[in-house]
Amino acid sequence: MKIGCPTEIKPQEFRVGVTPSAAQEAVAHGHTVLIQKGAGIGAGFDDAAYTAAGAQILDTAEEVFATADMIVKVKEPQAVERKMLREGQLLFTYLHLAPDPEQTRDLLASGCTAIAYETVTDRNGGLPLLAPMSEVAGKLAPQMGAWTLQKANGGRGVLMGGVPGVTPAQVVVIGGGVVGTHAARVAAGMGADVTVLDRSLPRMRYLDDVFGGTFRTRYASQANIAEMITTADMVVGAVLIPGAAAPKLVSRADLGLMKPGSALVDVAIDQGGCFETSKATTHENPIYEVDGIMHYCVANMPGAVARTSTIALGNATMPFMLALANKGWQQACADDPHLLAGLNVHAGQLTYGAVGQALGLDVTEPQKLLKAA
Ligand SMILES: NC(=O)c1ccc[n+]([C@@H]2O[C@H](COP(=O)([O-])OP(=O)(O)OC[C@H]3O[C@@H](n4cnc5c(N)ncnc54)[C@H](O)[C@@H]3O)[C@@H](O)[C@H]2O)c1
Repeated sequence: MKIGCPTEIKPQEFRVGVTPSAAQEAVAHGHTVLIQKGAGIGAGFDDAAYTAAGAQILDTAEEVFATADMIVKVKEPQAVERKMLREGQLLFTYLHLAPDPEQTRDLLASGCTAIAYETVTDRNGGLPLLAPMSEVAGKLAPQMGAWTLQKANGGRGVLMGGVPGVTPAQVVVIGGGVVGTHAARVAAGMGADVTVLDRSLPRMRYLDDVFGGTFRTRYASQANIAEMITTADMVVGAVLIPGAAAPKLVSRADLGLMKPGSALVDVAIDQGGCFETSKATTHENPIYEVDGIMHYCVANMPGAVARTSTIALGNATMPFMLALANKGWQQACADDPHLLAGLNVHAGQLTYGAVGQALGLDVTEPQKLLKAA
């Protein structure tokens, strides 16, 4: 198969869909890998790294789209890219179609087969191609929160780990899933005093078993949240109710209970945020203040560490990319129901229930397409 990887063109996107290491594996399996010139630069991979891996460099996105059987990307195709997709071509990338009727319409019109990273599942009910980015965002959250807490940035002027004779920062993490666990581990590693609040008892049992000596857990009732934020220097928002907007767990009135200059880091901002006063910010201008409380609400946190994020994403996508290339999408999806869960569009038909529901469009059962294909 000819696997093509264009340069990402969404503003501030520095990741790349295929790493040199993934290219090398694909070439070893007998595939041709076509990389757009300069596609890996933002993530620290120059063209020479790709040619050393056996890939070919093409000058333009047009050439990549025109030649490749499968396009592997990071972000959803932008309007100009969607015009280059063609019937029978395979697209493997993040899509997030539910809130995006224009993209959905264009993908359906193109006749391509589109498999979305974010809906591929695993045997534990997890989302293996979303998890690496949650791991990155979780580990970044205390780092960005610690920066926000510095006096020059408007923060309380508190050092995460304290020093001998001075108590460490109090960090509260709301939501103990992938983001929350990684945030708590890093905050604790920086020497902070960390409590994770969640509503899932099985999850808190797990966290207590594994991290009992590192951080505490507490049930995320409204009363407990209100109590914990009064003493917190930093609150990390890391909740997720799959498919729904994030619940608002700290109201504007609650900010009055908090210590001036303390930091709210709302990682859940990509689902609307879990603090009432959160609004999405960018890496250029990441923080703002409301009622004396500093807010950090960057919606694409992994972009700050494009190289780590690219490698982490590449590690997760590579087995699926290879299965698609080795077997073709029909056989790969027939063999793996978790990959089939990623199928969103095929030959003008929408194949993902939640997207159809959100956009009021008819949905074809993906299993049926598999048999027909
Ligand atoms: N800003 C970014 O760049 C970025 C990057 C990656 C992920 N995210 C977002 O971070 C959020 C968390 O992702 P995740 O992968 O950790 O999800 P996850 O499903 O692994 O964890 C979510 C946790 O929230 C808990 N929860 C749900 N409702 C709660 C409530 N009311 N109170 C307390 N806990 C509650 C769940 O029990 C679960 O443990 C998501 O919104 C995700 O989209 C943002």
